[in-house]
Amino acid sequence: MNYFQFLTGISVLMTAVSATKMSACTNSTGIYPNVTYSVNSYVCEATPCTCTLGCPSLISVDFYAPRYLEKIKPKIHAACMGVGLDYPLGQADACAGINNTQCPIVQNEKVHYEYSLNILPIFPEVTVTLTFSIIDEELNEDVVCFEWDIEVKRTTCPE
Ligand SMILES: *[C@@H]1O[C@H](CO)[C@@H](O)[C@H](O)[C@H]1NC(C)=O
Ligand SMILES: *[C@@H]1O[C@H](CO)[C@@H](O)[C@H](O)[C@H]1NC(C)=O
Ligand SMILES: *[C@@H]1O[C@H](CO)[C@@H](O)[C@H](O)[C@H]1NC(C)=O
Repeated sequence: MNYFQFLTGISVLMTAVSATKMSACTNSTGIYPNVTYSVNSYVCEATPCTCTLGCPSLISVDFYAPRYLEKIKPKIHAACMGVGLDYPLGQADACAGINNTQCPIVQNEKVHYEYSLNILPIFPEVTVTLTFSIIDEELNEDVVCFEWDIEVKRTTCPE
């Protein structure tokens, strides 16, 4: 491989990890991580993200642990038209979604967390604000927190 191919390889890798621009949570001590939200492997670059009911979507999160973490749990809160609900995640332990290291996490350790979110057909075709956090159960405090809007559609999955 020559130098040019090497550089091209790097730029391909860098496009592959493009992130989704979301918002930090207004009322949270959680840090705003690097996050990518994709629907059927199509990366949503700007919100609102179109979210087709029944399509597999993936929340991918990278952050450096702000402190030692032993018991952490994920949470998604969904709000639309003045109604809010905690979205059923079926994952009690966020450590199960971390694939680059194991719990407990030491301070400053890099963490890669993923969660496959399937939007249940309980939503009408509206805009829903999702708030995702990973909660430190020892302190009952957010470790990371971010929010973004999705536009729920009943169409076919994006390619
Ligand atoms: C902000 O968070 C604090 C502590 O969790 C809570 O007591 C307060 O009600 C929250 N405020 C709003 C506007 O949600
Ligand atoms: C987040 O993204 C920035 C910019 O691409 C990068 O410098 C940083 O290392 C990333 N953080 C993590 C935890 O991956
Ligand atoms: C974790 O998952 C991401 C995305 O699927 C992948 O790029 C990465 O290589 C995985 N890491 C490990 C250690 O398996």
